[in-house]
Amino acid sequence: MAAEQSKPKGPDLARGVPLDDVADGGMLAGHVGDDAVLLARRGNELFAIGATCSHYGGPLAEGLIVGDTVHCPWHHARFSLRTGEAVAAPAFNPMACWRVEQRNGRVFVREKIEPAAKARRASARPERVVIVGGGAAGFAAAEMLRREGFAGSLTLLSSDDAAPYDRPNCSKDYLAGNAPEDWMPLRPPEFYDEQSIEVALRTEVTGVDTKARQVTLADGRSLPFDKLLLATGAEPVRLDIPGADQPHVHVLRSLSDSRAIIAKAQTARRAVVIGASFIGLEVAAALRTRDIEVHVVAPEHRPLERILGREFGDFIRAIHEEHGVVFHLEETATAIDGKSVKLKGGATLPAELVVVGIGVRPRIQLAERAGLKTDRGVAVNDYLETSVPGIFAAGDIARWPDAHTGENLRIEHWVVAERQGQTAARNMLGQRQRFSHVPFFWSQHYDVPINYIGHAEKWDYLDIKGDIQARDCLVRYRRGDKVLAVASIFRDVENLKEEAAMERVSVRA
Ligand SMILES: Cc1cc2nc3c(=O)[nH]c(=O)nc-3n(C[C@H](O)[C@H](O)[C@H](O)COP(=O)(O)OP(=O)(O)OC[C@H]3O[C@@H](n4cnc5c(N)ncnc54)[C@H](O)[C@@H]3O)c2cc1C
Ligand code: FES
Repeated sequence: MAAEQSKPKGPDLARGVPLDDVADGGMLAGHVGDDAVLLARRGNELFAIGATCSHYGGPLAEGLIVGDTVHCPWHHARFSLRTGEAVAAPAFNPMACWRVEQRNGRVFVREKIEPAAKARRASARPERVVIVGGGAAGFAAAEMLRREGFAGSLTLLSSDDAAPYDRPNCSKDYLAGNAPEDWMPLRPPEFYDEQSIEVALRTEVTGVDTKARQVTLADGRSLPFDKLLLATGAEPVRLDIPGADQPHVHVLRSLSDSRAIIAKAQTARRAVVIGASFIGLEVAAALRTRDIEVHVVAPEHRPLERILGREFGDFIRAIHEEHGVVFHLEETATAIDGKSVKLKGGATLPAELVVVGIGVRPRIQLAERAGLKTDRGVAVNDYLETSVPGIFAAGDIARWPDAHTGENLRIEHWVVAERQGQTAARNMLGQRQRFSHVPFFWSQHYDVPINYIGHAEKWDYLDIKGDIQARDCLVRYRRGDKVLAVASIFRDVENLKEEAAMERVSVRA
């Protein structure tokens, strides 16, 4: 996924370019010495920032300028053109910035600018923040609390055995063996010490006392808080058939789950994936990369049809078949023994490895027991605060009032969880910021990335621009006049434009 390091292309911006080469709202990729630099123009203002996204190396010049930010074409991270700050996940590291000078109709990029000290004052109010969950939302909240100058005590409690990591990669390049270990941690271990974030791994929170303002841990200890974020995510639905509890039957949620599958893949020759979900199909793709025979068993007629529609469903099936995946659709597994999976239709599929990807359930038990309002998730307001003031929820567990559809949504996307963590953090510090991002996710099937914005559970029709089969399309999911969601393949900037247009339309005042 990461862009290859090569010599920066484009003009030498230190030697200057004609102002007219950069249109208003446009960008020009060039270089200063060995650094790839992006020159961006907004009216009469010009900005120069690093050209390669700090997330996974996306080419920012192929993205979009919105206001004074640039949006990455690959996974939609947003950077301030003024300061280089990564203002919206999935990137966290800032981009370098350079000073720009205009002279005689030419633009010159001069020296690198040291990042300006934050105008925000360090604040110890609230004094103690506790975050339950060391995943997307929990990590993003902790990082943002410190970035915003929070100087009080900050504890992140996680039942996982690994510090926050890139969960989506657990079913993609990492599982396929194409991502080095150092891509996985969201931050190196020293980050937490440097930022005074106390991280307690393998630590299960068992109770929240909303009156005494403390959480209880499985070992009996309790921890007081002034502000609390619940970000407990989701857990895989287990298969309830004979043999599903054997060691060669895996689910995939955590890095250790991914490592367990990788270990098994060293010797397995044949795998059965149960469930044609995004995760199930990504696992199928990763195992094919490892040259393992893969059969996918699922009850639906087409993979991903409920989420992406018939046309995408056929396309996704076809690309997996091109790579040798065998589908058993409109089928269910009835039993698993040590060497095979039995199907309802009578077939028996040999398998030394079985991966179950049949969906997830939000982990809302803590919130329920604490008496927080739930609604098929933890109910939160526009500011991601639960029914108990000072207790926030974010990520896969949170059901929030979406400003774009007017519906209460709970969504299981990485970027949504991270951005909710960021918004919750700012609100814990009293900023009163509404969560107003349009949902976004991406999924990777071999060399085909699918980017999806918005949310469509039911739609009237699809408006297809381009050609799905040709891997060049932008598909709008419409209900009446309204575009509910957009999915695209290799039309990144159009996808970003649709997202920006959706974000301009809010059903709230
Ligand atoms: C393999 C895989 C691939 C994915 N790929 C994509 C993708 O390509 N694109 C996309 O948009 N989304 C993807 N997702 C979904 C995405 O990862 C989730 O939406 C996101 O991680 C949700 O973030 P979260 O913070 O709510 O929960 P999580 O990231 O799941 O984190 C929850 C954390 O809470 C901890 N926890 C739970 N209960 C307790 C407790 N009682 N006490 C202490 N700690 C607790 C857990 O250990 C964990 O650390 C993928 C998910 C998986 C599993
Ligand atoms: S590479 Fe830019 S957001 Fe992922």
